[in-house]
Amino acid sequence: MTDLSRVLAGIEEQLSVPASLLKEIAERFQAAMTAGLAGKPSSLKMLPSYIGVPTGREQGTVVAVDFGGTNVRVLLITLTGDGQVHISNRRSFLLKDKRKNYDFTTASASGMQLFDFIAEKIAEIVPTTDKTYPLGHTFSFPCHQYDINEAELISWTKEIKTAGVEGQNVGQLLQAALERKKISYVYPQAIINDTTGTLLTAAYRDNATDIGAICGTGHNSCYLEPGHPLTNKPMIVNMESGNFSQIMQTKYDLCLDQDSEKPGAQRLEKQTSGQYLGEIVRIIVSSLVADGHMAGEPANTLHLPYSVRTEDLSTILADHTAGLEAVAEVVAACWNLGNLTLGELAALQTIARLVAIRSARLVAATWAGVLYRIDLELSRSHTIAVDGSLYEKMPGYAEYLAQAMNDIWGIGAKKVTIRLSKDGSGIGAAIAAATVYNSQ
Ligand code: GLC
Repeated sequence: MTDLSRVLAGIEEQLSVPASLLKEIAERFQAAMTAGLAGKPSSLKMLPSYIGVPTGREQGTVVAVDFGGTNVRVLLITLTGDGQVHISNRRSFLLKDKRKNYDFTTASASGMQLFDFIAEKIAEIVPTTDKTYPLGHTFSFPCHQYDINEAELISWTKEIKTAGVEGQNVGQLLQAALERKKISYVYPQAIINDTTGTLLTAAYRDNATDIGAICGTGHNSCYLEPGHPLTNKPMIVNMESGNFSQIMQTKYDLCLDQDSEKPGAQRLEKQTSGQYLGEIVRIIVSSLVADGHMAGEPANTLHLPYSVRTEDLSTILADHTAGLEAVAEVVAACWNLGNLTLGELAALQTIARLVAIRSARLVAATWAGVLYRIDLELSRSHTIAVDGSLYEKMPGYAEYLAQAMNDIWGIGAKKVTIRLSKDGSGIGAAIAAATVYNSQ
């Protein structure tokens, strides 16, 4: 065994999540759910959403605002009342744009500036006729929810730092911005998390859906609690599972965590989501170079945090060429590493794969934890609705999830369908608003 392959075997061992561990994590997750719901200490926030699943008969034309952290999307959506959805207009706007010289995600930007920007974008999309439109707002951060249209941001995640929003009522911030911009023809009706939107969108057509998740820049899941303690009725609960803490951390995870915006927080998210997977790979590769297991040119930029993005990992994983040309291009462009041997490029691809597999297996374990709670025997079918770039675009990711479910349930895994809920987070906001509007 060469030195590099020996070190690689060690990394593989640290990142692996065997079937027995999957089940253990699922059990810990289930226990954390129970504690969180009962208001006992838990890394799961278990936030009520004040909404159940739709009937599929909700209808109307609704404005959806989908604010996730990287961009804000505004959509004009018509629900037909028979499970169908038509998007008549949609646009996406970056929250930071170097060329246009703005960044609403830093601590030097204020909540007022951020929500004014969102209100302006709503005005660009929604026709100003005499018609009025209900608005559904997806706000993909942990919020204390007091009603379907009342949400207070607990704390930012995903490295966002905009000032003056934590602790504030997000619905009021948007309403105030709409008033400042004299946009009186849209009226906010609902605020939801993106996981809730994903669940609602899939459930609009498929009533076996009881888990919704995002595997994208961030990671989180929600589920339908059959009898919520607050209402004794079915209610979607945003678990903020990205904060789940009962998982192992390697020295690479600890290193990432120390230099993150909120050390100690969002442990699961830091091992599973698109915001961080590239950074884990960078930290591992830097340590290999620093320890002399891989050649690094003196001018390399491996020390620069977040210098490889998750899209780059997808490119690395998709490379099936004999010479691993795409892998070579990525490392040259991102880290100025131009002379790696084929063996070293292959090692890099293996590291990217191991990090992606660990992500998928940890996520699957948490979903198993939910199923342990709501249907331990898997006595009925379940659909897990997922949106996000990792699930949609990362080569192998969907298969890794399915494999983990098989490892946990064996043949029983056939009862569980994991499915893409494309644009679920935006469409779900429209469904939530229509639910409120239709019931008035
Ligand atoms: C972060 C947020 C969470 C959101 C997820 C996916 O984990 O805290 O609310 O659902 O990202 O966007």
